[in-house]
Amino acid sequence: MSDSDPTSRPSRPRKYPFDPLPPWVGPSTRVVHGARRPDYNTGSVVPPIYQTTTYHWPPERSESSDRAQAYLYTRTLSPTSEGPAEVIRQLEGGESARLFASGMGAITATVLSLLRSGDRLVALENLYGGTTDFVTELLPRYGVSVREVSWHDALEPEKVVPDGTTLAIVESPTNPTLSVHDLARWARATKRVGATLLVDNTFATPLNQNPLALGADLVVHSATKYLGGHSDLTAGVVVGPERLVSRIDEKQYLGATLDPFAAFLLGRGLKTLALRVARQNENGRRVAEAARDHRAVERVHYPGWGSEREGEIAQRQMRGRGGMVSLSLKGGAAAVEDFLSGLRLVHIAASLGGVESLASVPARTSHRHLSEETRRARGIDPGLVRLSLGIEDPDDLVRDITESLDRAL
Ligand SMILES: Cc1ncc(COP(=O)(O)O)c(C=O)c1O
Repeated sequence: MSDSDPTSRPSRPRKYPFDPLPPWVGPSTRVVHGARRPDYNTGSVVPPIYQTTTYHWPPERSESSDRAQAYLYTRTLSPTSEGPAEVIRQLEGGESARLFASGMGAITATVLSLLRSGDRLVALENLYGGTTDFVTELLPRYGVSVREVSWHDALEPEKVVPDGTTLAIVESPTNPTLSVHDLARWARATKRVGATLLVDNTFATPLNQNPLALGADLVVHSATKYLGGHSDLTAGVVVGPERLVSRIDEKQYLGATLDPFAAFLLGRGLKTLALRVARQNENGRRVAEAARDHRAVERVHYPGWGSEREGEIAQRQMRGRGGMVSLSLKGGAAAVEDFLSGLRLVHIAASLGGVESLASVPARTSHRHLSEETRRARGIDPGLVRLSLGIEDPDDLVRDITESLDRAL
């Protein structure tokens, strides 16, 4: 991530470059200054929102050699999106980054750009529900063969990524049971057969985990979550080598373009990412430890706590464990009702990664489309509650959650 590292420089020259950062800056500085480029019209320190769809395009511009860098139409390139894309690129340590209107926009554009009919895809079976639907329902209609891999089989990726695989999609930690997969081992297994490895790093954030440094080819995020961080925008991003991102970029006619206002909000949110994630890591750990000692709780799901092996992998590949914690309550669905009705600070809502803590019930939200039997096989029992811890005072969250657990006894 330093400036002496070639991955910290975008391979495509920019018409209006960002000020280079000294190589010694840390992530908190990088999120604030990583996309510094005083506005070329006014010198404004905060980048303005270019709320326009189109740009002057006199005949001489169509002739110029830097056409690819020129602003023509907002679906293809917007100055407001370049700053946040640049910060995320630097945080993930990739050559190139492209923003989208949502995480699903980033995932579908990436996968559709890289695959063709006859290709083979390997996907973890407990990916985000939208991704699972897309790869298992839609892609086979276009001639892509899809192999879903169980959590258990994913422990030995070399056995489930056969020759002839084009693309593999992995998440770690996974939703909602927060299992940890060995990304470096997945990278070795996919490289061996010449497949591309795509990692959804939404739950970990680039502050806690960098899949590209572990050998993955591409990283995607739902920037709606931690990167934006305030539950007030939807966005997505893909980061990776220019040779792959430019193939995705060519397909801008797919149209999941980030709106300039959402791009501005994302750029604003990113500036506090390091502060937020540090507090969310702390709140996740504090709540997980408090819940582990509570009599209403059967099991706490927290990255690295699943087994000794997962603990060792998390230690190796994550700098922090994040702000997600899931609780299996002994009293099942009835206990979940009692728990939720006791919460005074934590909102009951889907999604994650914002400054405010949220509680959701996967069996009723993200995983409601699965049968009861499939849910149980994936560890999603009726007593499972997923918590996304925000940036509130740790003691306040521990109190709100443990007092609500008392009601679930
Ligand atoms: C891990 C993960 N990936 C992708 C997505 C999709 O992102 P979006 O809702 O921004 O389209 C989500 C949404 O919840 C998610 O949790």
